[in-house]
Amino acid sequence: MPIVSAKEMLATARQRGYGVGQFNINNLEWTKAVLLTAEEHKSPVILGVSEGAAKYMGGFKTVVSMVEGMMEYYSISVPVAIHLDHGSFEGAKKAMDAGFSSVMFDGSHYPIEENIEKTREIVDLATAKGISVEAEVGGIGGEEDGVVGAGEIADTEECRQIAKLDISMLAAGIGNIHGPYPDNWQGLRMDVLKEIGETTNNIPLVLHGGTGIPDDMVKEAISYGVAKINVNTECQLVFAQATREYILAGLDQKGKGYDPRKLLKPGSDAIMETVKEKMTLFNSIHQA
Ligand code: 13P
Repeated sequence: MPIVSAKEMLATARQRGYGVGQFNINNLEWTKAVLLTAEEHKSPVILGVSEGAAKYMGGFKTVVSMVEGMMEYYSISVPVAIHLDHGSFEGAKKAMDAGFSSVMFDGSHYPIEENIEKTREIVDLATAKGISVEAEVGGIGGEEDGVVGAGEIADTEECRQIAKLDISMLAAGIGNIHGPYPDNWQGLRMDVLKEIGETTNNIPLVLHGGTGIPDDMVKEAISYGVAKINVNTECQLVFAQATREYILAGLDQKGKGYDPRKLLKPGSDAIMETVKEKMTLFNSIHQA
């Protein structure tokens, strides 16, 4: 199956009450692990690519070619979208030109009028090409220079305004943050999420910062209209942990254990296990 826009897969997920995982990819191993897990468990999936990760992997075109080649090679039959994560205005345009099937334009740091104007422009370009667009209102917190920001709480009225554009999904800050949650985290503002879900015309909502949100909160969020859940750090943590164990056990020094195909296997297997656990939690298994 060719890569697809995320529009239909998320509209269906929202309608049927499950979530589709966006798993951020960092290299070939990551991409292969996510695609094979989605195929094995017959789950739709979104490959998230930040501008930084795209730069690391050799640019947007390299990413698109790698994903397309791999999908053909492994006969991937489930719906897969390649999605720009937290794109800038120029980055979103470049990703669309390079063949991404979905983009996020993160205008949450602009005043709402400017965010809406810029999002509208991206939507116009995207719609002509059948590409899905994610908009964001209310910033997502996270670590910057060692300080963990709490994350903003989106304004419901601003969500309602931006949802009037022809966007395919909306990310709204509800106290979620990227990376692990601090011990004193107050949890997701379910009251705000519920209100946003009720006032945005059934647009699939996006939950960023999927690492470390308790399972019951994830399920409750899905019940209020979340149809896409982003997971990045958790895969990085399990990959690093499994790789560390392999090396600390001296396995890289045994036989040809230094061969990257062996050295990176425990980490890749750990990503596959985490992706499967998330797909089970989001209830996207057997939905493709
Ligand atoms: P985590 O790194 O916390 O899983 O968040 C991922 C994310 O929201 C990407 O946009």
